Amino acid sequence: MSNNKVQIFDTTLRDGEQVPGCKLNTKQKLIIAEQLDLLGVDIIEAGFPVSSPGDFTSVNEIAKVVKNATVCGLTRAVENDIKVAAEALKHAVRPRIHTGIGTSDSHIKYKFNSTQEKVIERGVAAVKYAKSFVEDVEFYAEDAGRTDNEFLARVCEAMIKAGATVLNIPDTTGYCLPEEYGAKIKYLKENVKGIDNVVISCHCHNDLGLATANSIAGAINGARQIECTINGIGERAGNTSLEEVVMIMKQHPYLSLNTDINTKLLYESSQMVSHHMGMVVQPNKAIVGANAFAHSSGIHQDGVIKNRETYEIIDPAEVGVTESAIVLTARSGRAALAYRAKKVGYELTKLQLDDVYKEFLNFADHKKEVLDDDIHLIMKNSNIAAAAVV
Ligand code: KIV
Ligand code: ZN
Repeated sequence: MSNNKVQIFDTTLRDGEQVPGCKLNTKQKLIIAEQLDLLGVDIIEAGFPVSSPGDFTSVNEIAKVVKNATVCGLTRAVENDIKVAAEALKHAVRPRIHTGIGTSDSHIKYKFNSTQEKVIERGVAAVKYAKSFVEDVEFYAEDAGRTDNEFLARVCEAMIKAGATVLNIPDTTGYCLPEEYGAKIKYLKENVKGIDNVVISCHCHNDLGLATANSIAGAINGARQIECTINGIGERAGNTSLEEVVMIMKQHPYLSLNTDINTKLLYESSQMVSHHMGMVVQPNKAIVGANAFAHSSGIHQDGVIKNRETYEIIDPAEVGVTESAIVLTARSGRAALAYRAKKVGYELTKLQLDDVYKEFLNFADHKKEVLDDDIHLIMKNSNIAAAAVV
């Protein structure tokens, strides 16, 4: 594997599915898992097998059908969780157990009423037990974002010794700033014995809208796996959005970070997840939102019609969107009107355009968006229908 490759660990079916109202049945999970495999993700976190019989079945069925990606199951640092996950994953070509425990002072005190030493002991025992079933064991230090770096380094070193292959450093509460999260990864890279033999993973939540920025900061500082979800769905404000981190790495080649994602499948994957989860994608969502390639102000429309790159940093075709949209509103200019009129069959001279534009503005002031049918009406009202080129 290239040193600059960042593995994409998709947790749409686990952290993503934790969103209230987004629960999927096994059939839906299988459809999405097959799409993720096609998309080129490296790891699919298929579920939390001990959490319910339905989740066990889903992980088990996904493990049977996924051909390329590693299939992963989540556990707590609890023997039975690990045993059940191993059973659910037994048909996987490449199985991974993802186990872990909270490491921040708040988790140690309030969740476990325990001590740092005991938490390390529990983590080590969990990793060793998971290793007795599968070679590939990922350890998560829950709430690593708020865990003291020196203690976190001790935790990481102990888990490497116990056999962990991947160390997940979650910003569980979405608290870190990008600089702080990047520095945390750098600190671990520089202070943990054996760190170069394992993969460091970023798992960032979006409580302050920083999940994507934090994950990229982690990768810049040496992490080589990013945990993310389609459309950024996930617990509370969500997880890092897969389409965002992938396109950031692609659009900034000087970072020398790359992935194996087939970006042309991003839009259809987003639509598929939205459809099955019944969760609409916000229109202004980066990369996959309905307005991500739509231009509505006159100044922008004029630029895009002359050359797409004036206002677009991504070719929509790169992410599977057929074309940029020129949306007609009362803020649109003549260039946009002429462009859309031509698309529906009207070639206008400059004088005709001036006339039609007046009619268009009157119309647009009373409607949020002017559609193709409205253009025909505007032409009729402008009394220049005879100029139409059909
Ligand atoms: O946010 C988190 O810390 C998690 C872990 C279970 C990996 O989802
Ligand atoms: Zn999470």
